[in-house]
Amino acid sequence: MTSSPASGTYIPSRRPRRLRTSPVMRNFTAETDLNPNRFVLPMFIADHENSASAEPTPISSLPGVVQHTEDSLLTAIEEAIEAGVGAVDLFGVPLPEDKDATGTAGIAEDGVLNKALARARKEFGDDVLIIADTCLDEFTDHGHCGVLSTDRWGHTIIDNDATLDSYAAMAVAQAEAGAHIVSPSGMMDGQVRRIREALDAAGHQDVSIMAYSAKYASAFYGPFREAVGSSLEGDRRQYQQDARNLRESLLETQLDIDEGADIVMVKPAMPYLDVLREVAEMSTVPVAAYQVSGEYAMISAAAERGWLDREACILESLTGIARAGADIILTYWATEAAKLLSR
Ligand code: PBG
Repeated sequence: MTSSPASGTYIPSRRPRRLRTSPVMRNFTAETDLNPNRFVLPMFIADHENSASAEPTPISSLPGVVQHTEDSLLTAIEEAIEAGVGAVDLFGVPLPEDKDATGTAGIAEDGVLNKALARARKEFGDDVLIIADTCLDEFTDHGHCGVLSTDRWGHTIIDNDATLDSYAAMAVAQAEAGAHIVSPSGMMDGQVRRIREALDAAGHQDVSIMAYSAKYASAFYGPFREAVGSSLEGDRRQYQQDARNLRESLLETQLDIDEGADIVMVKPAMPYLDVLREVAEMSTVPVAAYQVSGEYAMISAAAERGWLDREACILESLTGIARAGADIILTYWATEAAKLLSR
């Protein structure tokens, strides 16, 4: 005789918990995979005056991230490759005295970034994608992403069209140095088309453009400013997007795709996952998301206090970004996360 439940007791017939019964079952049915091949490690290469004796400089607001010397940069890239990381993205940190109003040191062949790009490409060839940050802010003495001029009323403005000339020259210099991908992050109108034309004219048809398409003026960039020794006073609200806007990101993304972007990006990631989702739905090219310095710092600081489980939060935060639609993720945890995933 089969026992029947007491009348009135509800027995579920649909049981989603079946797919959660074991790790193997959960892995088998997961909807999102994190693939280290599509992680990008952002790295800082600093001009250490006494390069022979120099040590990498820690960045206090980004524990575990350093301003590299050329030697430590190569070691760290090697470690990233071994962990399976697909790309590194290099940001230059020049000596303060090498900064000027137009960011000359960012374009010069012997500038800190271009020298490092050349050395890294020579060392690693096509074993890892070498991305160059294509922006003036690390190299200007005023810290803005473009060159300044004055409007009719005497206000300082960031001159969009004059900046495009610098970006074009910078992108070509980075391609000459060996970058596989240039990455304009300055949010100037028309930057992608201008860079594409300049690269093509210089014979760099095969160098890709990863465009910061939807980049917001975000307080979450705070630690990055320390990381690059930024000279910025004021803010970037004349060129980066307003946090209140989403539709505008779809316009920015479409323009960048039309102008020739090979990859588009949303930045920051966590406070803008809704933007990422919508960009991923409309984009016809791969979509990247940048887990920025403030996102890294938040989890690091809480974990240091024992308030969060560091490794679990790293993987959960990256999973959320991938689930929202990112094909490619820039994260300062790229190497560590790749190692965690292979355990
Ligand atoms: C500017 C640039 C910034 C970041 C990347 N590129 C700072 C800014 O726009 O103010 C921020 C990255 C981060 O916070 O991790 N070229």
